[in-house]
Amino acid sequence: MNVILTVENLKKHFEVPGGNLHAVDGISFSIKKGETFGVVGESGCGKSTLGRTIIHIHQPTSGRIYFENEDITFISGRQCRDLLRRMQFIFQDPYSSLNPRMTVIDIIMEPLLIDGMKKRDARQRASNLMEMVGLSKAFETSYPHELDGGRRQRIGIARALALEPKLIICDEPVSALDVSIQAQILNLLLELQEELKLTYIFITHDLSVVKHISDRVMVMYLGNMVELAETKELFRNPLHPYTKALLSAVPSINIDEKQKREILHGEIASPINPMPGCRFAARCKHVTEICKTDDPKLMEVKAGHFVACHNI
Ligand SMILES: Nc1ncnc2c1ncn2[C@@H]1O[C@H](COP(=O)(O)OP(=O)(O)OP(=O)(O)O)[C@@H](O)[C@H]1O
Ligand SMILES: [Mg+2]
Repeated sequence: MNVILTVENLKKHFEVPGGNLHAVDGISFSIKKGETFGVVGESGCGKSTLGRTIIHIHQPTSGRIYFENEDITFISGRQCRDLLRRMQFIFQDPYSSLNPRMTVIDIIMEPLLIDGMKKRDARQRASNLMEMVGLSKAFETSYPHELDGGRRQRIGIARALALEPKLIICDEPVSALDVSIQAQILNLLLELQEELKLTYIFITHDLSVVKHISDRVMVMYLGNMVELAETKELFRNPLHPYTKALLSAVPSINIDEKQKREILHGEIASPINPMPGCRFAARCKHVTEICKTDDPKLMEVKAGHFVACHNI
């Protein structure tokens, strides 16, 4: 297996009033080169924190991150900047991540100039990148606010591609866009992946998006990984009660198919100073005594299909 990234028991805790917030609480997985690895789960489950910790916007609390066979867990300063040549991030809201006072071409050139490229070469490369992401030359001197959401996300993608990264962490890259534009951006990401042999971590709360784009999907619940499988397998045969509830909420394409939407009851546990036991126990209809006391271990129940549940 041609592994590009391995995360082992990764934790990111934040000191907050009232204690320790376990945003990411012991996540392990490996990603193959060229793969699209989907990360799903409801708001606040730690998806963005996971992505931001991998790329060192946050320093990990504990665990290990290996990237291209190198331990990058506790790098800092210059090493973090060097990492950005090989790993990049695309943000949900392109507008807030783009400097409103810079023109499009300057925004895309900026990482190249910081990396030491000569201005003329950087301009040429930025121009090529604009073409690559489908932005007309006419927009070179525009400002981000003059462009629509889809074009702004194209700037974000061009900028992320500037230093020729191998891995891109896409954090809800289409969630802020109109549905018609979403498909264009997703297709652009797929084309670029093919052309540039990119690996993606694709974070989203939108299951139809993840189904369309991912090779494998990891389901998170309150900082934990509850299930991981190939996309087809996960949608056909979800095993964790949380995954089942999540998938039942996706509108069915087949209108004849009667679909029962499962409503989750019970309170979401707090990520601050969490108690031992399954984080999903309070909302799970299959809960037993052991769920309230012991953390479920992640088990491979079928080749490549992992689930953390006491009742599987
Ligand atoms: N810098 C921070 N300081 C303190 N707590 C944080 C910080 N960043 C995130 N959190 C907390 O960590 C938890 C996970 O947040 P995160 O943003 O990773 O969730 P998410 O799955 O990306 O949610 P969403 O779908 O809404 O983007 C939340 O409880 C959040 O409040
Ligand atoms: Mg997020």
